[in-house]
Amino acid sequence: MNIDKNTILQKGFLDIEIDPRLDLFAEIERLKKEKNAVILAHYYQEPDIQDVADYTGDSLGLAQKAKQTDADIIVFAGVHFMAETAKILNPTKKILLPDLKAGCSLADSAPTELFKAYKEKNPNHLIISYINCTADIKALSDIICTSSNAEKIIESVPRDRPIIFAPDRNLGAYLNKKTGRNMLLWNGACMVHEIFSLEKITKLKIRHPQAKLIAHPECEEAVLAIADYIGSTTQLLQYSEKDSATQYIVATETGILHQMQQKSPKKTFIPAPPTNSCACNDCPYMKLNTLEKLYTCLQYETPEITMDETLRLGAKRSMDRMMEISEAVGLIG
Ligand code: 13P
Ligand code: SF4
Repeated sequence: MNIDKNTILQKGFLDIEIDPRLDLFAEIERLKKEKNAVILAHYYQEPDIQDVADYTGDSLGLAQKAKQTDADIIVFAGVHFMAETAKILNPTKKILLPDLKAGCSLADSAPTELFKAYKEKNPNHLIISYINCTADIKALSDIICTSSNAEKIIESVPRDRPIIFAPDRNLGAYLNKKTGRNMLLWNGACMVHEIFSLEKITKLKIRHPQAKLIAHPECEEAVLAIADYIGSTTQLLQYSEKDSATQYIVATETGILHQMQQKSPKKTFIPAPPTNSCACNDCPYMKLNTLEKLYTCLQYETPEITMDETLRLGAKRSMDRMMEISEAVGLIG
């Protein structure tokens, strides 16, 4: 087949008609074996993609798997910064992203030139950036963190060292409170986690008095203030499995409910409602990936993530620092 690279760049994915009678699950399994490929999926992907993945996890778990795999091809069912992270950590592998337009509002909130200027204005600050940022921002940062290890990463820095935390102001404010630091916060946010309505959550809590509110730290302070538990997607999942309650209001992207329901089939999980009647608690970027795009991407090995080697090495420095600290404190092994 003749692959038109310009069309892929315009559309973000390879747009070909797929025979509706094709068993995509079986086809994807066949292609994985044939090509020695692995599918890594984030918890916010649609259920079919999570089911066909070799590994489903949070940003830290996915980065670790991307680093360790001996597969020749990694299909990253997630968003662009995650696939870029896989390339940074494992440059000899072919990294595929089913839809190149699967971006991230949080990563977009830190444009490179503005960030450079901010860094120059604060030359004595150590820069800790949340993994939800571009490779450019990673290269400008000293240490990367995820929602699973952020607290430990910050605690590893001497208390008298000034820190800039970027790009998520909500996660940054939460971490300032937890660690007693006064980090300078970049003014970025995730559109999905900022959409939850405090008023509607409060009403839901009244209607379901037994339900616990569990929230991702990308949520706004007012939502976090009434949460029973706050954690990364993996931490929320583990908490919902081990905790004794039977009902949960879940303040993060709805994709995670698939795993929660599978791990605890007898429990009830209610997605926290957004401020209006849209499905805004679905990440529009994560949901650009579909089983069909995953199949064509694996079959034709495109779209592929490529990266300038100087940029990759710059970004790898801050990623390596995160991995080292995480290993030292026993968060990954
Ligand atoms: P984690 O899965 O690492 O908690 O991150 C959530 C998120 O927003 C990913 O885009
Ligand atoms: Fe980015 Fe938010 Fe979507 Fe995660 S949920 S990919 S932070 S826009």
